[in-house]
Parts: sequence; structure tokens; C-alpha cells
Amino acid sequence: MKFGYFDDAKKEYVITTPTTPYPWINYLGSQEFFSLISNTAGGYSFYKDAKLRRITRFRYNNVPLDLGGGRYYYLFDNGDFWSPGWAPAKKELDFYECRHGMGYTVIKGKRNNISTEVTFFVPQNYNGEVHKVVVKNEGTEKKQVTLFSYLEWCLWNADDDDRNFQRNFNTGEVEIKGSTIYHKTEYKERRDHYAFFTVNSPITGYDTDRESFIGTYNGYQNPKAVEAGKSTNSVADGWSPVASHSIDITLNPGETKELVFVLGYVENALEEKWESKGVINKTKAEAMIAKFATVEAVDAALAELAAHWDALLSKYSVESADDKLNRQVNVWNQYQCMVTFNLSRSASYFESGVGRGMGFRDSNQDLLGFVHQIPDRARERIIDLASTQLEDGGAYHQYQPLTKKGNDSIGGNFNDDPLWLVLAVVAYIKETGDYGILDEMTPYNNDASLAKPLSDHLKRAFDHVINNVGPHGLPLIGRADWNDCLNLNCFSMEPGESFQTSTSKDGKVAESVMIAGMFTYIGDEYAKLMDKVGNKEEATRADNEVKKMRDIVMKDGWDGNWFLRAYDDFGKKIGSEENEEGKIFIESQGFCVMGGCGADDGRAVQALDAVEDRLGTKYGLVLNNPAFTKYYVEYGEISTYPAGYKENAGIFCHNNAWIMCAEAVVGRGDKAFDYYTRIAPAYTEEYSDIHRTEPYVYSQMVAGKDAKRFGEAKNSWLTGTASWNFIAISQYILGIKPEYDGLAIDPAIPTSWDGYKITREFRGDIFKIEIKNPNHVSTGVNSMVVDGKVVEGNVLPVFGDGKEHTVEVILG
Ligand code: BGC
Ligand code: NOJ
Repeated sequence: MKFGYFDDAKKEYVITTPTTPYPWINYLGSQEFFSLISNTAGGYSFYKDAKLRRITRFRYNNVPLDLGGGRYYYLFDNGDFWSPGWAPAKKELDFYECRHGMGYTVIKGKRNNISTEVTFFVPQNYNGEVHKVVVKNEGTEKKQVTLFSYLEWCLWNADDDDRNFQRNFNTGEVEIKGSTIYHKTEYKERRDHYAFFTVNSPITGYDTDRESFIGTYNGYQNPKAVEAGKSTNSVADGWSPVASHSIDITLNPGETKELVFVLGYVENALEEKWESKGVINKTKAEAMIAKFATVEAVDAALAELAAHWDALLSKYSVESADDKLNRQVNVWNQYQCMVTFNLSRSASYFESGVGRGMGFRDSNQDLLGFVHQIPDRARERIIDLASTQLEDGGAYHQYQPLTKKGNDSIGGNFNDDPLWLVLAVVAYIKETGDYGILDEMTPYNNDASLAKPLSDHLKRAFDHVINNVGPHGLPLIGRADWNDCLNLNCFSMEPGESFQTSTSKDGKVAESVMIAGMFTYIGDEYAKLMDKVGNKEEATRADNEVKKMRDIVMKDGWDGNWFLRAYDDFGKKIGSEENEEGKIFIESQGFCVMGGCGADDGRAVQALDAVEDRLGTKYGLVLNNPAFTKYYVEYGEISTYPAGYKENAGIFCHNNAWIMCAEAVVGRGDKAFDYYTRIAPAYTEEYSDIHRTEPYVYSQMVAGKDAKRFGEAKNSWLTGTASWNFIAISQYILGIKPEYDGLAIDPAIPTSWDGYKITREFRGDIFKIEIKNPNHVSTGVNSMVVDGKVVEGNVLPVFGDGKEHTVEVILG
């Protein structure tokens, strides 16, 4: 069952009912000011950092869920009142529609012959959210209505805001000037920033004190002021400051009124604040307000935003016979890659914004699917990440986006972390040809005095693996590898301790075959990069280490039919036929095959066959099988989840992509694409009622076959699934791979395909590639003609002329 449809021409998902199975959200802003907005206008805004600079308040896990806060409008019409987005008033609408597009959302509602259309977006290079509100009288009689706006301020630090009521109920301060409501809590003492909410029209009234507007015993559904059709002109003094305008509007039949509301954020220089003695300097706010004084200015900014997205998305696009594939690749997957790049795992409807900042492994992986869009931002991110690396090559697991400093709240020692940096740098250089990044002086532990060229960071990342191996010569897992919940060193936990605080017994035994697989794949990339930059000695050393690891994997990391997952801290196998539960895990199969383990002797294919056999379901591949039904203290958190959820045999969409890549590596395009369609949102849209999360973006996890709610997704938006699935489809399946010397064409497609076209902008050149499959094969380039000339091999050269080049590829 569906709750909307894709409007491909407009790059929008159109939701046709407000009561979707779960709030279906969008993100506004992709630079410094960000907002989350649901299909009923719930959500919140922040500047750079969802924890430290939260602008509007949101109550997570509220009842009902999506009434935790938002930017709400109410229409008061002759005693009746309603909301254009259905919530929060929840009055039945004669028409409802929500269009989530690229960086904007349009919500339309109609009741009693009044229609409203609100367009929400964050303009480019602007620290604010703009709302264009259009109210129209569609009836035959004159109407007198009152429009109320409403939002609730957060007192900046969302974590403190949620806890420290004894203090925070006393600090709230606002200022009202004309139609602008300023939120200036703590500006006097601690802050150099403030926010405002304004409208480009005279107002009839306002409210800035929540209780005065809503009432002590009312809720968002029926605020007292809206029930009465009149603002109370309250001025907040402590408690919960809010911002609400009311505007009386008279509309003749057919008449339309357009208004522009702006929620803005301003930072003043600290010195300015000292001089002003705590009086807010409004100059910047006034300039921001002037910018969107007219609807024409708003429309121009919307057009600019659309052009920006058109340009970003034009860097890679496919034309195929499959609409679902086209919309996934050309629009929604790339859009999600931008969002994950921006926000890592910080703020979604499942990530509270206060828990996790920018993850080291997460952000390095997010970059893989984003780097072709804005390489300069990827470059900056690489340096930020590498600057949090520790001198021994390990890394802080996370950093706070506002400060860019390593955040030790959950410690480090995740032994996969360093390798992801290598992969990110390799991807960046292959995309751009910018080897100069390797010379960039980059601090360790954010300490400038410890700065070394980035190449040194890569070396230490590589060495961190070989300096930390266990009894079989396999990499020590540390606190955990990619699988956060495989905590093999935590069996010494004290009662009440969680894996996040417990310390390892000694951490000298538990080994990860997954990190070994990663090392064979990513270490090999490191060796090739060193060779490319002429550091032959390092290339040879690295190559030898990788070969050695491959041999170890094939000897002690192979179980008989698939790759083992790990050895626990007692030296016992995990992910083996000899285990009672958790006999096979997905991660090591993907990475070992990608790293070339078992390529020569059929074991790679054997492992992948076992994956389909043991882990395959119609909704995707589960992480492990059989699911753990008992608790194993020596495995840690993984066996605490009920069977079928999260890391305990859930369908982790992130690592499904590794199997797609691995299937492509062994040349099985049919299988790779089959797995792709099992989890790609455009294909799961059909059963949105079961899946429940947004049908236009990936979710981290879908409940697995052992779960009671098999097929139900959770944790949408912020997941490495986005970038890895984009890599799987764009590079491994459709087969357009950036390489150091050009763009390699190396598809692994279903044999039934006749062909497809790709447009790829690469280092300034535009390649118009047509791939023909007359012999119905999966892989292998038979011939390639570029601008009418035959080119040997399968790598498109870099022309560097910024021109369009026509490429015809025949497979077979
Ligand atoms: C979750 C993981 C997540 C981790 C983050 C665990 O509880 O299961 O998916 O990565 O927390 O700290
Ligand atoms: C989500 C985390 O953000 C990511 O870092 C981790 O690899 C996966 N969960 C799997 O545990």
C-alpha cells in the first residue's frame, strides 16, 4: 500500500495523506542552517550543531510522536480553526498534500473553501528558514480569517534545555519590534547569538509566552489564543518563550494573500556584544529580513535552490528502462547522500541531535557517496576528520560539528575506524586528481603542534591495523569494528555497566575477520596510491602486508563454506558452522570478497552463495543467522537485541550494499541488482504500510526474518546505507568508476538488460555514455568508442577541456 507517489519531473515525493505510517520528513538547508520538517510541519531547526545551537524546541518520543514541536500555522475562520498541515489542530481537511522536494517542502491544506499553501525552505547562503504562505478564498463569499503562526524557542543547548528546568524556566527573554519577535535568552551573559521570527506584513497581535498562547491545560491541538481567535500580546518572562504572530486577513471570492515568514539566526562578534552591554545588535537581522521582504525575492531564491540541485544531480545520472532505478540514482539516493554527509548521525527523527555528533567511520563513509557532488567540501571534511586522528593512528570515534574537536563521550578504540579514512582519501583523489591533499599539514588530536602531512595520517591508519593483531595475525577488534554491537572484550562488564563504559579485560585476543577483509581491500588501495605517487618502497611494503593478511584470512578466517566473523576473547570462533547461533555473518563475506580473498579458488563465490542461502529474505539480507535467541556475555550488545532487530539479524541496509559490490566483483550482475532492488526505497514504496518509514530514502535497518515485525524499517535517513548503495549501483553495477587516470567503465548488470545511458561529469569533462548489451552479458567491455575513435581498454581518459564527450560501449 502507498501513501503518495513520486513526481519525477519535479523531483518530489508527494504525500497524499497526513497520517502516514510514521512521520515522513525532509531536510531543509545544506550548508550551516538546517531544519527537519515532517509532512505535517513538525520538526526543528539548528545552526551547524543540533546539540549546541538548537534554535527551536522538539520533544523526542512525544505522544503523539510528531507533535513534539514544529513551525505551525492555524487558520481561524469564523469560530472554526484548522492547520494547513493537518497537525497540530488535526481538523479534517477537504484537501491535503505534502510535497517533499530538494531542500524544500510544500504543504497544502483546504477547509471550508479556504486553501493554504506553505512552502518551507532554507535559501542558499542564508541562515534562516523561509515560509511562503499563500491563503486563498476559493468560495463565493467574502471571508474574514485570522492566520496564526507558532514556534517554540529552544534555549540553545538542546541537551541542557531538555533537563535543566530549575534554571531554564527563569532565563527566557524576548523582544518584539514591529512584526519581528527576537529570541535573546542568555544574550546578556553567555551568548553572542540570537534568533528571530518575522513576517513581511503588519501584524494584528502576537504571543511570546507559551502558556499565554496555549493555556495551562490545552495543547497544540487547541491553543487558547487560537480558540479565541485573538492573540494575547504576551511577553515571555522566563518559562517557555515562543513566537506567534496573528494577522487578520479579508479575502474576497477568488482573492489570494501571500505572506513571507522568516525564522533567522544571527551571530554577532563577541567584541560587539561586550560593547553593546547585552543589548542585541539587530543590524544583521534587519538585513536578513530585508532580503525576503517580497514574494518575488522568495521565488527567486527558490529558483536558485532548484538550479543548485539540478547542477549537483547532473554530475551522475542514468537513463534506463526502469523508472524506479532512474529516480533512485538520479534524485533520491544522491539527495540522501548530501544529507548524511552534512549531518552524519546527529539529527533525524531517530537521532536526537544530542547523542552523536560526526562519526569518524560514519563521515568517512558518507563522503564516498558525496564526493562527486562538491569535492571541495569533501576535502575540508577529510582534513577535519584526520585532525581528530590520534598519534597512534587510531581515532576519536566522533567529533562535535560546532567545535570540530574529538568527542570522547563514548571513547575510541574501534579498530576499524582508521581504515575508513584511507578509503575516503582514495575516493577523493580518484574523483579530483588532487594529490596535493596528501601534503596538507594536518594535526593529530586537533593539536597543531603535532601536524604532519595527510599522507602520514594514512600510513599511521594502515599501520594501526598491523600493529594491533592477535594470535592468528588477524586484526584485533578493539572495542568493536563496524558492528558496534559485537563487543568481544566486554565480558568483564560489571553489573549495570553498558558496553559503552565497560573496559576490556585486556583486548589482546579478540580478532576481527571483517577488519582483515577491510584491510585486504582498503590496504590494497593504499598500496596502489603509494605506487601512484611514486613512493615505491611504501607501496611494496603495503602490498606485502596485504598479501600476508589475505593468506591469513584464507587460512584462519575461512570456516569451510564462508568467512568467519571473528575470534572471541577466549579464542573461539564466531560466525562458524560450529556455533549454535550466529553461524554466519554478512560483513566479512562482503569485505573479504571485495578485498580479493578467495578470488582464485572459488571460495569467494562459495561465500556469496552461502549469503543468499542463509541470509537472504525478500526484504533484503539479514546480518547474521541464526539470530541470537540467548544472551552471550562474551559477545556483548549484539545478543541483547531481540531476534531480528538491529545488529542481531536485522536487515542492515548498509552492509547489503557490500554484498552487491562483492557480487559485482565476482561478475554476478543479476544477483547484485536483485539485492539492490530488495532494499532500494523506490522499490519498497509498494509496501509502505509494512515498511513504514519514508519511501524515498533508505533506513538503517529493516526487521529481519526472525523478527515479529519482519519488513518494518527503522532509523531512516542518517545511515551509511545511502553512500554505500550509491557506490554499489553507480560504480559496481552500472559500472562507472573514478580511477586515478580516468573514468573506468566496468558494469556488472542483469543479463536481461539491453543497455542504458549515463551522463557523468568528471574533472570538468562531461561524458555522455551509452552502454549497449547486445549479447546479454553481465560484465566485460568488448569495445569502446570515444568521440568517434576507438579507445583500447575500458578507461575513459581525462580530456580536461570541459567539453562534452560521446562514448559508446559495447559489452560482451
Ligand atoms: C546501536 C548501533 C549504533 C550504536 C551507536 C547501538 O546501540 O545498536 O546501531 O551504532 O548504538 O552508539
Ligand atoms: C550505526 C553506526 O552509526 C555505525 O557507525 C555502525 O557501523 C553501525 N550502526 C553498525 O553497528
